[in-house]
Amino acid sequence: MSKSALITGVTGQDGAYLAEYLLKKGYVVHGIKRRSSMFNTERIDHLYQDPHVEKRNFILHYGDLTDSMNITKIIQECQPDEIYNLAAMSHVKVSFDTPEYTANADGIGTLRILEAVRLLGLTQKSRIYQASTSELYGLVQEVPQTEKTPFYPRSPYGVAKLYAYWITINYREAYGLHASNGILFNHESPIRGETFVTRKISRAMAKISLGMQDCLYMGNLSSRRDWGHAKDYIKAMYLILQQDKPDDYVIATGVTTSIREFIHKTFAAAGMEISFAGENENETGNIVNVDDKLFREKVGPEFIDAVKKRITDDPVMVRIDRNYFRPTEVDLLIGDSTKARTKLGWIPKYDLNGLIEDMITSDINMMKKENHIKNGGFRTFNYFE
Ligand code: NAP
Ligand code: GDD
Repeated sequence: MSKSALITGVTGQDGAYLAEYLLKKGYVVHGIKRRSSMFNTERIDHLYQDPHVEKRNFILHYGDLTDSMNITKIIQECQPDEIYNLAAMSHVKVSFDTPEYTANADGIGTLRILEAVRLLGLTQKSRIYQASTSELYGLVQEVPQTEKTPFYPRSPYGVAKLYAYWITINYREAYGLHASNGILFNHESPIRGETFVTRKISRAMAKISLGMQDCLYMGNLSSRRDWGHAKDYIKAMYLILQQDKPDDYVIATGVTTSIREFIHKTFAAAGMEISFAGENENETGNIVNVDDKLFREKVGPEFIDAVKKRITDDPVMVRIDRNYFRPTEVDLLIGDSTKARTKLGWIPKYDLNGLIEDMITSDINMMKKENHIKNGGFRTFNYFE
């Protein structure tokens, strides 16, 4: 019989990739989606199956991690072999605006799942993956960060996830649950939420290259992140739940890069060289050169004159806006995933350049489509962050 999995947060970046991955492996996949006033399933629409079809293997349930009874009812109905708890208010900056909600969904939400499994008598059946995070390290106490590095979270999000991390371990030790934490470092993709920094940069670069946007407004350019590809990271989640014993694993590339460098690399991947000048809030990113061949190949020959003109006429493509700074920042993340590589055999396929290539190819295509629609006289939408 097929294994079954329940994914909370199935409409998110990781949920979508994981659902696709498990379906390919022959799983019956249940996903929890939130009720929304608009469709919110764009990332999983390609997997959608009509409810009238018999023997569906991808089934969506309305739910919310802040609703214990709802979570308990769904777990009772699905009786899943594996639960991947990916649902969360996952934006660090927004968690400063909604700290109580974040604690409820990201912290107590995890408890609701663990307690439901226990109360329903599924402790021997349902294995649980908890989406823990490198944000736990916050003000880092050790470089690089391993499973043994002490935590020091720096946001309401990080603190809520700290509770989730420990309650997962507590239920494992107290009740014998197969419950594990994946301490995942930042992972991105073409379907990354638009307000996270990599996607914001990739989208803006695409728009700027096509003449659809003038400038990208950014916060702290000096923080450093260990960025991997979400497609690699969801495989680690799966591997963690296939182990005989539950455990906690760091999942990371071991390479750290500043936001400034990420901007430079992203623009360079499309043939635009950005040079930074000035300090603090007056720092700007200016276009200083265009690689003719690369730009023509990645963006298109029809856009090159306008971009070259900017070198002399209007070179500033990146500016600082203090509103994007955080009350407390996580300055440096770099993970040591030796344990995962040794015990799980997890090996990521993408490096940072491969990730950027994947993201910019997708965003340039998307923005070209938008541009085409706009030039055809139809209305397009401008989403800024
Ligand atoms: P994401 O794209 O923001 O997706 C979050 C998902 O959670 C979405 O499906 C969202 O639904 C859902 N959700 C939010 N609040 C909910 C609630 N109260 N009840 C039920 N569902 C809720 O996040 P992601 O990047 O895929 O990350 C997946 C998980 O890994 C998150 O827990 C995140 O904190 C954690 N994590 C992420 C990273 C990373 O770099 N991506 C690194 C470490 C850990 P809507 O679509 O309706 O908003
Ligand atoms: N979002 C955003 N927008 N971040 C900016 C900006 C901006 O305009 N300018 C600079 N940054 C900096 C942030 O201050 C932070 O230091 C860094 O870019 C990364 O920000 P995000 O991409 O928002 O991600 P994050 O590291 O805060 O959190 C992500 O990774 C965590 C794992 O470490 C999220 O996916 C979390 O859910 C995840 O746990």
